[in-house]
Amino acid sequence: MCKIHAAITGVGGYVPNYRLTNEELSTIVETSDEWITKRIGIKERRILKPEEGRGISYLAVKAIEDLQSRRPFNPLEVEAVIFATTTPDYGLPSSAALTAAQTGMTNAFCFDMEAACSGFIYALDIADGFVSSGKYKKVMVIAGDILSSVTDYEDRNTCPIFADGCGCVLVEATTEEVGLMDSILRSDGSTPEHLHMYGGGSVYPASHETVEQRMHYIWQDGRIVFKRAVSSMVDACEELLKRNNLSKENVDWIVPHQANLRIIDAVAYHLNVPREKVMINIEKYGNTSAGTIPLCLWEWENRLHKGDNLILTAFGAGFTWGAVYLKWGYN
Ligand code: UT7
Repeated sequence: MCKIHAAITGVGGYVPNYRLTNEELSTIVETSDEWITKRIGIKERRILKPEEGRGISYLAVKAIEDLQSRRPFNPLEVEAVIFATTTPDYGLPSSAALTAAQTGMTNAFCFDMEAACSGFIYALDIADGFVSSGKYKKVMVIAGDILSSVTDYEDRNTCPIFADGCGCVLVEATTEEVGLMDSILRSDGSTPEHLHMYGGGSVYPASHETVEQRMHYIWQDGRIVFKRAVSSMVDACEELLKRNNLSKENVDWIVPHQANLRIIDAVAYHLNVPREKVMINIEKYGNTSAGTIPLCLWEWENRLHKGDNLILTAFGAGFTWGAVYLKWGYN
């Protein structure tokens, strides 16, 4: 019997209309276009303004409509919707359920999952488990965040980086030798103090005090996170390449999480992969957390060929990190 693989058969994406430039940000906190460009590599980021819409499901519905326009599919055939996000519309119900209801995926079971910036690769691996087991044939993976809703615009360590955006991929069963080939996913929750948003959970439910203490915003120790991001992504990628007998020549694309251009460059340097093989769009979209990798696939879709070897890699709060080896499924 042929092995069932889980292949991406369509990509959609959406970023909000409003462009928050480095120049505008420099009027809000003490920073400059020069500093942000040099130290982070971002020129502008998209922000969802209430005039346009509200909530991550607003972006997700747009992303699904975009996927539908590029690669029409019957939403009634989708059996599961997995939504990777740290900024769901509400505590409950799930943004997956809300999005499915608005896009006709009414036969699917739906749930949100949170792995911060590693959310997309985690969700893709879960989808692969569902599909390659033979139990399900069509799974929608959505990943994105409205980081502007949890960003402290008085904190220059975080506000230049974070942005809003959402991508999605349709994952389908195939017996061809394409799709998700292997993955390495890891987490380490022993040092939450380096990257966190403590307010609003069951330890610190929302109160006047948590709001006053700015606990509903993401806080990070940038230098520590930077170092852990580089070493963790490099280690995961090297292990994945080795156990799949892949050399840098066999890799067509590295698709890294877009948190800082210097992190991306350091990962490419350690893997000895030239920049031409690395998907980078951080300069215009910033760090959309779970959204960055699907938004890269979305932008590069028409440059990808069936059988291309892609290595997806991410690092985020948790800490969570990992790498996924994917053979692209279509031209
Ligand atoms: O996706 C979620 C995971 N997050 C990440 O992957 C983020 C990882 N970390 C980073 O990207 C970087 O550490 C930051 C972008 C957050 C900070 O860049 P850095 O090069 O590590 O700066 P630093 O914290 O070492 O600060 C260097 C200097 C400091 O000034 P002094 O002490 O040398 O005088 C900061 O006060 O740069 C200053 N600085 C800024 N200056 C202008 C820090 N942020 C800014 C700013 N504008 N926005």
